[in-house]
Amino acid sequence: MSFFDDIQNLIAQARQELQAARDPQALETWRIRYLGLKGAVKSAMQKLKDVPKADKPAAGKAANELKQILQQAFDSALAAFASVARPRVLAGVDVTLPGSRPRIGHAHVLSQTIDQICEIFGRMGFTVAYGPEVEDERHNFEALNIPAHHPARDVLDNFYIDERTMLRSQTSTVQIRVMESQQPPVRIIAPGRVYRPDTVDATHSFMFHQVEGLYVDEGVSMADLKTALDQFCKAYFGPDVRTRFRPSFFPFTEPSAEVDIEFHYDDGRKAWIELGGCGMVDPNVLEAVGYDSERYTGYAFGLGIERMVMRKHAIPDIRLLFESDVRFLHQF
Ligand code: DAH
Repeated sequence: MSFFDDIQNLIAQARQELQAARDPQALETWRIRYLGLKGAVKSAMQKLKDVPKADKPAAGKAANELKQILQQAFDSALAAFASVARPRVLAGVDVTLPGSRPRIGHAHVLSQTIDQICEIFGRMGFTVAYGPEVEDERHNFEALNIPAHHPARDVLDNFYIDERTMLRSQTSTVQIRVMESQQPPVRIIAPGRVYRPDTVDATHSFMFHQVEGLYVDEGVSMADLKTALDQFCKAYFGPDVRTRFRPSFFPFTEPSAEVDIEFHYDDGRKAWIELGGCGMVDPNVLEAVGYDSERYTGYAFGLGIERMVMRKHAIPDIRLLFESDVRFLHQF
């Protein structure tokens, strides 16, 4: 093979190897092999002296071109590496900073709270029941001992759909539905939406959530009720929270009470906050679903969920809970 063929082969081989170089280390190895002090270019130069005299000028030129070609190939490979391997600042973006995480959706704070409530009462042996939001007057009123012409049934205070159908105004409806479908013992909670035509402001909404509780068995007492609600409040708000029961009136319970918690503000202030109503199930209600009110007693309660959430998370306006502003929701 002639000197010229050797040079052509060398170029081809060097290019191939350069393409295969995947990291700076391999690039450096290549450089030493071809362009280094004892490299292939150097030894081609040394072989020039064996070339016949007539071919010497052309051979010298070819050897110089070899050196140039390989040097250029190396330089551009190096430049390509530099731009790929270390793109530290690209158009004002520092790619070495931690990336921004994509926002992943999560349960609404009200749903989280409902799950938590179900979990706490679940530990006390309550199962979860649900009822329809479109109800009839029997379940919303009559069976709950709220007779016709009672002020609570006023058309202006309820969302009637027709004469006998309405959006439920309280989750107490589920008490009736559960008792109609099973015999004692009954121990359920029923979280869900309720509807009342209230004017919307910071503390009122035409739709909000309640959690109803019902426990009917032989020998259930008011002491059981107080214990269950006290335990629930401590589990949800914290072990230091105190509860208070104030005498009250509801058609479906006798005696009835309102339950308050003593809330501790960050600045040290304390205040009693009403959470909802409760009491011993009125015998008329037990009889309305065919239970023997001589044999069974029960307690019931209905708590406002927004109230709990707003108190616990210091949310000042109920509308924040329903406006779906992710800047607000993302905090929970
Ligand atoms: N249903 C009542 C309301 O919406 C709350 C309530 C009071 C529920 C006493 C009960 C109860 O189960 O025993 O105002």
